[in-house]
Amino acid sequence: MCGIVGYIGNKNAQNFLISGLKRLEYRGYDSAGIVTLNAEGEATLLRAKGKILNLEEKLAANKRDDKIGIGHTRWATHGEPSETNAHPHRAGKIYLVHNGIIENYKELKENLKEHDFKSQTDTEVLAALINSFYKDGEYPLANAVVQALKLVKGTYGIAVVSCLSPDEIVVARSGSPLVIGVGHDETLLASDASALLRHTKRAIYLNDGEVALIRKNSVEIKTLNAEPVSAKVEEIETNIAAIQKGGYEHFLLKEIMEQPESLMETLRGRVNAKDGTVRLGGPGLSEEKLRGIKHLVIVGCGTAYHAGLLAGYYIEQFTPEITVETVIASEYRYRNAYIPKDSVALIVSQSGETADTLACLREIKKQGIPTIGIVNAIGSTIAREVDGGTYVHVGPEISVASTKAFTSQAIAMVMFGLTIAQAKGVKSSMLRPYVEEIAKLPEAVRETLDSTHDIVKNVAEKYAEYEHAIYLGRDTAYPTAMEGALKLKEIAYVDANAYAFGELKHGPLALVDDRFFEMALLPEGELYEKAVSNVQEVLARGGHIVAVTNVEDFDLPVESVIKIPAEIRLFAPILMNLVSQLFAYYATVAKGLNVDQPRNLAKSVTVE
Ligand code: M6R
Repeated sequence: MCGIVGYIGNKNAQNFLISGLKRLEYRGYDSAGIVTLNAEGEATLLRAKGKILNLEEKLAANKRDDKIGIGHTRWATHGEPSETNAHPHRAGKIYLVHNGIIENYKELKENLKEHDFKSQTDTEVLAALINSFYKDGEYPLANAVVQALKLVKGTYGIAVVSCLSPDEIVVARSGSPLVIGVGHDETLLASDASALLRHTKRAIYLNDGEVALIRKNSVEIKTLNAEPVSAKVEEIETNIAAIQKGGYEHFLLKEIMEQPESLMETLRGRVNAKDGTVRLGGPGLSEEKLRGIKHLVIVGCGTAYHAGLLAGYYIEQFTPEITVETVIASEYRYRNAYIPKDSVALIVSQSGETADTLACLREIKKQGIPTIGIVNAIGSTIAREVDGGTYVHVGPEISVASTKAFTSQAIAMVMFGLTIAQAKGVKSSMLRPYVEEIAKLPEAVRETLDSTHDIVKNVAEKYAEYEHAIYLGRDTAYPTAMEGALKLKEIAYVDANAYAFGELKHGPLALVDDRFFEMALLPEGELYEKAVSNVQEVLARGGHIVAVTNVEDFDLPVESVIKIPAEIRLFAPILMNLVSQLFAYYATVAKGLNVDQPRNLAKSVTVE
């Protein structure tokens, strides 16, 4: 949510800032801006509403060969998306970019009467506050930043430059990620390591409560209490190819189509189909501890929450004496929930930076409950703060709609459940079918994507103009229906909601009319016939049903049928979700909407 970049070195700063912002645009795209300083400290500030493209147009008439600068792409929190509200914000001689929210900005503003506020943002308040301590250069910039941050309540990742010292950038973080790239005769800065990749693979991940003074050839880190911190330089693990479209028109399609490989990465070295076992090293729990687990709390937001719901159904199927509670992080953090001592919490997040999920992690840790991360982004805050974890290793997910992460998060959590069941001595005849299917899943994912692609495209184009959709499923297909509805909602702007089939008669059936279509997920299994009866009830009321099924002799008179391969039984909902992903993608393309950057949203929700 919002992106920050910064550069100091011998090269053209504007070029780095613009290319870095393009890389981060998926994090926020309401407005963008950069400021660069020349050797004399003269500033060139460029800001534009909307896409980076608009900023580039301004840049064309304002090219500078400055060697230091900071930039920002915004997801609006305080104040509408506009040029005035775009960062960087100026106060006196300083310029500031900021990710996060300054919660006590109103109170702080009361005491900053001498500043002529131009924007509606909390960020400009912080700029003015820093300037009030800086006193136009009377005190060192880093000291002024520290003094100001001591008064701030909220979250921030910030970068500050001053016209009076065009050889330094001061950065700080609390709750919003910042990565410092260490190059040759240059130091770079970004809120996401992917923006640094073209320039360096050596990075320093700043921790909460740290402030860094960045120069061309040095990085000096201290805590807010002025204690020196020795900078640990780490290798960035992502490669350039992983953050490019690779011939696809959109990142979303690329990410959907790479799931056979990304899922394979999740399973690598962890599944032994021959002896029907799984092995996860990351959680670091002893056999005894695993045996003693009676309760799992799974915490996530959006797609990660749905993955947790889905995994919970499976874990309960094969693990005796265990309860699984999957919770929405933004709710859970404020619930006065008692967590029994023999619990373990799974903290699920693609980005590893989601503010609500992170807050839950910290609350749960306070209660002494072991926390296990199910995270994708390596080195992210959640990954660093959990007690143990399993990276899903799906590679960068750039499109705002999460796809490949869902598949791997769900399976990684099922594998964690299997390790508990193994430790509890559950018979291998019970667990083996799950393990064997998991081992076959990457290939089944490939087959499903290949065999359904064209038909899903046709069907999606047919239903793209409907304004309402109902996704239906039961048991493991129910969370899958929820995830399918979320995808269609967030990128195709269709009012899509999911219901458990059994709930239809308790209310939602009243909705069925020609404005709606129904996406019915119908995996073969114990509850199939019951779901079929519910489909009949919708048909009897004139419903427009799209059925997704693995039942070979499926013959219900629905409007459209999408068949998925029949070989996978237990995890058929995972394959059905691929259909939902492709469906949402093609409906969005048919409507001519922005696939990768849907309106009002951003990847990685780092504010509450
Ligand atoms: O990075 P996280 O997995 O923590 O993100 C959680 C949600 O913000 C995310 O899944 C969101 O719901 C996606 N846009 C859904 O496609």
